[in-house]
This record gives sequence, C-alpha cells and structure tokens, in this order.
Amino acid sequence: MEEQLTVGHVAELAGVTVRTLHHYDEIGLVRPSSRTAAGYRAYSAGDVERLREVLAYRRLGFGLREVAVLVDDPATDAVAHLRRLRGLLLDQRDRAAAMVTAIDRELEARAMGIRTTPEEQLKMFGARLYDAIGSAYPATRRTEPRIAAQIWAALGDARTVLNVGAGTGSYEPPDRDVTAVEPSAVMRAQRPAGAAPCVAAAAESLPFEDRSFDAAMAVSTVHHWPDAVAGLREMRRVARRVVVFTYDADDPGWLQRFWLTRDYLPEFAGLVTGRPSLADLAGAIGARTEPVPIPWDCADGFFEAHWRRPEAYLDEQVRRAVSVWTRVGPQAERRAVSRLRDDLASGRWAERNCELVTLDAAELGLRLLVA
Ligand SMILES: C[S@@+](CC[C@H](N)C(=O)[O-])C[C@H]1O[C@@H](n2cnc3c(N)ncnc32)[C@H](O)[C@@H]1O
Repeated sequence: MEEQLTVGHVAELAGVTVRTLHHYDEIGLVRPSSRTAAGYRAYSAGDVERLREVLAYRRLGFGLREVAVLVDDPATDAVAHLRRLRGLLLDQRDRAAAMVTAIDRELEARAMGIRTTPEEQLKMFGARLYDAIGSAYPATRRTEPRIAAQIWAALGDARTVLNVGAGTGSYEPPDRDVTAVEPSAVMRAQRPAGAAPCVAAAAESLPFEDRSFDAAMAVSTVHHWPDAVAGLREMRRVARRVVVFTYDADDPGWLQRFWLTRDYLPEFAGLVTGRPSLADLAGAIGARTEPVPIPWDCADGFFEAHWRRPEAYLDEQVRRAVSVWTRVGPQAERRAVSRLRDDLASGRWAERNCELVTLDAAELGLRLLVA
C-alpha cells in the first residue's frame, strides 16, 4: 500500500504550520486524499508533489490564486513545473545580483559624497537584470555583420520577423518588417530612433496570435529566460520559422574550450548548471543546429568576443556590457581580472594561448538553432 504522511509530519518536513496545510485543504489548493483511522489528514506521494509545487511558487512570491491556476494547468506535468521553478529561481538569483550591483554603485557614489535620487534608490526593487546593467550595454554591444549574415540567411525569405529579447535592436534585419519584444524598460529606452516598434513583454508569454509572423528570432537572450523551453514554444507558436543564437554547454569539456572560463572564471559553470541543454532547446522546437564561428575582431562585445584580444577583458566598460560578469559576483570578477592582468604582464597568457594568434575565427560553442 502507498505510504501516507500525516499532516503533522508533512508540516514538519516542509517547514510550514499545520494551520497552513489546513487552510490549503479548505480552499481546495492541496487536498490530502485520505484520512488516518484517527481522522487526521493523510498525504499521498501525489499530494506531497502538489504541495511541493504550491510551496515553491509561494516562495517565489505568487499569490494563492495565481498558484492555483499554475498547479491546476493540465498542460504542465511535474517535470515541466520543476523546470519552470528552476528557471524562476535562477531569475531571482539574477535579480539579486542586479540588486547587489545597484547597492555597490550607491555605496561607491556615497563614498564620493554623491547622493542618489529617490528614483534611483527605488529602481533596484523588482529590477530585472537588464534594468540594472542595461545602460552599459550600447558601449560595446552591436551587430557583428558576419554573424548577422548567418542569422539573416537562416531567416530565409521571411518578410515579417519578430525579434524576441530584442534589447537595443542589434541584428534586426533592415530589409524586413520587424517587430521587437523586450521586457526591460532600460533596454527599450535605448533603442535608436527609427528602430522597429517594440512591445514590452517576455518570451514565455508572447502577446500575438498563432502564426502572426513569418519568422521569430532570438539573439543572445535565451539563457536569460526563466523558462527557455516555454519561450521557444511561444516563438514556434507565433512564427513559421524560428532562429535562435545561443551557445552549447552540453559537451562535458565545454568549460575548457575558452581560456577565459578555463583559466580565470570557472564560476561561469554555475550560471549554466541546470539550464536546459542545447539538445533540450533544439528538441522543444525541432531545430537543427549550425556552428557560429566568432571572428577574431568580432564587433559585438559578448562574453567570448575578445578571445584573441585578451586585454579587452581588463576594461570595465567591456565587462559591464556582459551580464556574466555581474552574475558571477564582484569577488570572482576581481580575482579573474587580477589574474588575467598578471598573466598578460608576465607573458604567461601568451605562452598558454600561442595557437590563437594564427586563427581568424574561433569555434567556442556558439550555435544557431533553426526550426
Ligand atoms: C544580452 S541581451 C541581448 C539583446 C539583443 N538580442 C542583442 O543581441 O543585443 C539579453 C536581452 O534579453 C532580455 N530578456 C531577459 N529575459 C527575457 C525574457 N524572459 N523574454 C524576453 N527577453 C528577455 C533582456 O532584457 C535583454 O535585453
């Protein structure tokens, strides 16, 4: 017979009060499926699974009504809930990193006798990562023409294109009818005059009818989505063709392929752990993958862009435009930069990476998904 847990035991294990569990029962959120001989509520494995989902969504700040809608959704099974919860928690971690950045900035400003405005002080709450770091983006992030050519070729003959996680508008094809989607107000505000119209929304819930676009594209953004698989399915729903520029961390040795993660910033691995694999992402939309070589003089300053120009990583402006450096935290960043500076000065970097100087492009795991 299946093991049943008493209400007291469940409350103890989950770190909630028996009263809370009684309340969830009364409002129909988690109804224990049976009673003990003495009449106490008894929870089956299935009840516990539902309770776990309810408590996790509650901890993420969802209201009881919202939680009820989420856990009652027949299209979402236990694995999908776990994936979504994981993504939401990672998003929360990123927001905490954004808040630390905002606090550090204010501490620095105060140390110099500068008082931040009330607006600036309030901005850190509820800020998305890109609301905190986005103002540094345009300094070094722009369309790299050779990567753009590959993305635009993959869009095929699409006339209408949705750009999801569009940021400041890099890689938007100038000769097509583009609509952008971008959740961060800071990023939207930095789109140049004349850029494609931009809707404030997130990938996981695109405010468009099925098949509204010939193609949907997403560049350097999927790794930020709390539920990447849901976002890709949304792109698939609204467009005939989907093109995604992302990276492959499936191969166990991936951390070794780029000297920056291998020798200076192994903490990058912690940002990727538990994210859906490239195979999961491709599988969600039935995509094929294409390698994207990074030219040695890549114009778009993303994380891997300066693989043959290591001094660039010593530049604060270059780092502030790449979220990885904020997400690993100031301690790891300081250590990595200081070691790299020493190794460049001593010739150790050049010695270890002598083969790079002869390469015009590098294969560092960047990929296009095309569906
Ligand atoms: C590295 S930027 C890339 C911007 C642009 N695609 C580019 O190539 O320059 C990542 C963008 O993803 C956006 N983003 C984060 N979470 C998102 C979500 N759930 N749905 C859509 N975009 C999201 C961020 O606000 C940010 O603008």
